[in-house]
Amino acid sequence: FWGNVEMGPPDVILGITEAYKKDNDPKKVNLGVGAYRDDQGKPFILPSVRKAENIIHEKGLNHEYAPIGGEASYTSAVAELAFGECSQVIQNKTNATVQTLSGTGALRLGLEFVTKHYAKNKEVWLSSPTWGNHPQICNTLGLPHKKYRYFDSKTNGFDIEGALEDICKIPKGSIILLHACAHNPTGVDPKPEEWKQLSQAIKARELFPFFDMAYQGFATGSVDNDAFALRQFADDGHQVMLAQSFAKNMGLYGERVGALTLLCGDQESAAKVMSQLKIMIRTMYSNPPLYGARLVTAILTNNELRKQWLADVKLMADRIISMRTQLRSGIEGAGNKQKWNHITDQIGMFCYTGLKPNQVARLTKEFHIYLTKDGRISVAGISSKNVNYVAEAIHKIVVN
Ligand code: LMR
Repeated sequence: FWGNVEMGPPDVILGITEAYKKDNDPKKVNLGVGAYRDDQGKPFILPSVRKAENIIHEKGLNHEYAPIGGEASYTSAVAELAFGECSQVIQNKTNATVQTLSGTGALRLGLEFVTKHYAKNKEVWLSSPTWGNHPQICNTLGLPHKKYRYFDSKTNGFDIEGALEDICKIPKGSIILLHACAHNPTGVDPKPEEWKQLSQAIKARELFPFFDMAYQGFATGSVDNDAFALRQFADDGHQVMLAQSFAKNMGLYGERVGALTLLCGDQESAAKVMSQLKIMIRTMYSNPPLYGARLVTAILTNNELRKQWLADVKLMADRIISMRTQLRSGIEGAGNKQKWNHITDQIGMFCYTGLKPNQVARLTKEFHIYLTKDGRISVAGISSKNVNYVAEAIHKIVVN
């Protein structure tokens, strides 16, 4: 019956974890998926999340359905976290926000909304490179996608000239996908001044900016600093769309909790957009799961817990920074003559090492170190225990 179904390829990121799990070598290291680990290499339950779990448990809540778009207490708290309490959008309530199945669910719902309701140019422009799932979601929805220059492999930094040049040629009215902070996979973000230039260029082309914000807090350790680009665009009058995820910054990976927001300009449009989002959600998964959203709401709406959470995020961001320093000095200390400053210059969870696919394959085969083919490593997977092993392996691969 299904004999003619073609075997699909494993996922470029999650497939790495599948391969890692099958490896029995005790030295194995998973630097594939972006999932935070503590210095013992163990998944980390944030102390703020633990407290929120207890609060929820004590409330003895029932398991009735959530509203189709999620609880209002959740959607307003997360929109406020993104845009800032004092922003025009939040003050005027001109946003349409729904709970989604984490960031991917928000991207999928947002882009599907575009296919149905966006009247201008349904072409999606992605940074080169970008997160592997971005083009895949476009493909699934039949949305054409193209690339604008972003990463400069000569400097291992942001290619502002290339990006601006390309953006100025994007057909008017297209959709442009932007990583709000901690760009995945490169760890390279535009500086505030560069964001302002991008905002103007995007406005001149009348593009529709879709922000993917999966790492709020991970880039600088501050949730407000990391929302700079998004808030700048909102202040500049862009009617942005935003995908939010709490997988990384609250460690709620498997709870699948995120949000999609569309800025609508006025309350009437926001109500119409909401109604259409609800129809789409209802026919896809009916209504969202409760638990993760309850945790997020408990944290964001309780001053003490929120303070604890901000400290937890900072702790994760700082550990990653210290692993970057150790990895770099490990490679340089092994006598490697190449430049490795990008390891410490790049920010967020990932380092775009510059390793070529054949070097990546050797790291996995000879050293049982797992990473994506593009040379991206999840620095969050490095710990004091394995940092020297990883550094030496990279050094050996590069010199031989
Ligand atoms: C990653 O890029 O590793 C993460 O965003 C996890 C994922 O779902 O790919």
